[in-house]
Amino acid sequence: MTDVDLPPLPPARFDIEPTAEQVAFFAENGYLSVPRITTDEEVEWLGVVYDLLFEEKSGTFKGGYFDLARPYDAEGDDLLPQVLAPEHRFPQLRETVYLRNARRMASALLGVDEAVLHVWGHMILKPARRGHETPWHQDEAYWTSDHSYAAVGAWMPLDDASIESGCLHFVPGSHLGPVLSHHHIGHDPSVHGLEADDADTTSEVAVPIPAGAATFHHPRMIHYAGPNTTAQQRRAYANEFQLAPVPSEVVNERPWLDEGRKAWDARTITR
Ligand code: NI
Repeated sequence: MTDVDLPPLPPARFDIEPTAEQVAFFAENGYLSVPRITTDEEVEWLGVVYDLLFEEKSGTFKGGYFDLARPYDAEGDDLLPQVLAPEHRFPQLRETVYLRNARRMASALLGVDEAVLHVWGHMILKPARRGHETPWHQDEAYWTSDHSYAAVGAWMPLDDASIESGCLHFVPGSHLGPVLSHHHIGHDPSVHGLEADDADTTSEVAVPIPAGAATFHHPRMIHYAGPNTTAQQRRAYANEFQLAPVPSEVVNERPWLDEGRKAWDARTITR
C-alpha cells in the first residue's frame, strides 16, 4: 500500500439538528431519510478517497476488501465490492461534516450521549451496469448473538441513489421484530453477503435519495438494495454507530455465522 497525499478536507461548516418528528418517525418505522447531511464540496472530496480505495482493492487492513456477492477467491470483476473501516487508512474521514452530523443524528435516534457511541465506516460500491443486488437482510444478522446491541446505521450515497442504481428499500416497522434466520447469498458460505430466509417485504418502501443526503436504519430493519442497471456507479458510504454491546442472557444460534467463518478462514486470496 503506497502513501498518498489526499487533497485537504474542505473546511465546510454545515450542521443539522435532529427534530422531535424525526426521532418519533424513526422509533415507529425503524428508518429515516434526511435531505442533506453534508456539502457538495465534501461529497466531492469523499469521492476522491473512495475511488482511491476501490482502485487499490487492498482494503485498509488485511481482509478489509472483498466482494459481498461472490466467493472470496473469485477472479474477475467484482459485483458488490466493499471496504471496511476506511478511517483506519485515512483518519481524515473521522473529521467530516457527514460524520459529525450523522453522529448527532444517531445520538438523538438512540437517545444517548454522543460520547458513548463507537463508530466504524463501511463503503459499498455498486459498479455501473453490473452492481449486484443486496438481498433482503438485517444488519444484526452479521453480528454474534452472544451480545445485545443498541445501534443505528447511517448511509450516504456519493452518487444519486435511484431505484435503478440501487437505493435502499425498507420494511417499515420490521425493526420491532426478531433477528430472522439468514443464509449466505446463493447458499454459498464463501459468499459474505447474507439474505433473510423468510422476510415479509409486502409493505416495503423504496427510498431514493440524492448524493449528500442520507438514510438511517435500525440494525433489525429488513432492508434491500437493487442491482445497478445504470451507466453510473453507485458509491455509498455507511457508518455504524453503536453502544458497547452487552452480553446476552439468551444466545440464539446463528449457524450462518459459523459457516461463514470457516469459509473465511479457508480463503486463499487475502487482500
Ligand atoms: Ni445492511
